[in-house]
Amino acid sequence: MRLILLGAPGAGKGTQAAFLCQKYGIPQISTGDMLRAAVKAGTPLGLAAKKVMDSGALVSDDIIIGLVKERLAQPDCAKGFLFDGFPRTIPQAEAMKNAGVKIDCVLEIDVPFEAIVERMSGRRSHPASGRTYHVKFNPPKVEGRDDETGEPLIQRDDDREETVQKRLQVYADQTRPLVEYYASWAKADPAQAPRVRKIDGMGTVEEITARALKALAS
Ligand code: AP5
Ligand code: ZN
Repeated sequence: MRLILLGAPGAGKGTQAAFLCQKYGIPQISTGDMLRAAVKAGTPLGLAAKKVMDSGALVSDDIIIGLVKERLAQPDCAKGFLFDGFPRTIPQAEAMKNAGVKIDCVLEIDVPFEAIVERMSGRRSHPASGRTYHVKFNPPKVEGRDDETGEPLIQRDDDREETVQKRLQVYADQTRPLVEYYASWAKADPAQAPRVRKIDGMGTVEEITARALKALAS
């Protein structure tokens, strides 16, 4: 399975990715997690990316495309993969198409903007694994601690309210057009283009996983 999860910031891409990757036995390729790892490691890429991420803008296409191509060359991607937060611009999608990276399905998780701000303000993350919780909707077993390692959870720097508003605007301007991009490609060339599916992202985490699995099987 080669899958793209598309959706606004806070739509639940990372949350659902964990279940889908386990179900299909494929790696999760989250460009956001890769960038946060670079920030934590203090690499030159991380230092440059941190400023951009904290502002809510997007890291340049060239950097992201390079990172993803390098990741796809690793052997665990041979059986498939799940893109979470990538592609995020038309040039990123075109770069994959031009590189002959075949995608089976683009799954859009649809959540109204009003619900997103509440989701992001309550999000807590375990940086080492990328596991994500919510203080109210998806709490960890022990408050402030990761379920598997017991390590402390953090709040992401880009989940401040003003940055969230900017990220939502960037999504509407630069990423949402990908829905139309994939829909027109599917219409023009159904044999080569990915299937495009959309699910309602409101409900419990389990309900949305069930919807995703049903949509992917259709
Ligand atoms: P990235 O890390 O990709 O962030 P994002 O797309 O903004 O998405 P999020 O991680 O915020 O949300 P999510 O959909 O994964 O939701 P989650 O499952 O956590 O990118 C961060 C930054 O990196 C970008 O702004 C950019 O600067 C840069 N970047 C990354 N990729 C890039 C690219 N390709 N090109 C250029 N720049 C790039 O859920 C959110 C919360 O809701 C959690 O608390 C969760 O527990 C809760 N929740 C989940 N499901 C439910 C539910 N059903 N009901 C209630 N709460 C729920
Ligand atoms: Zn995420």
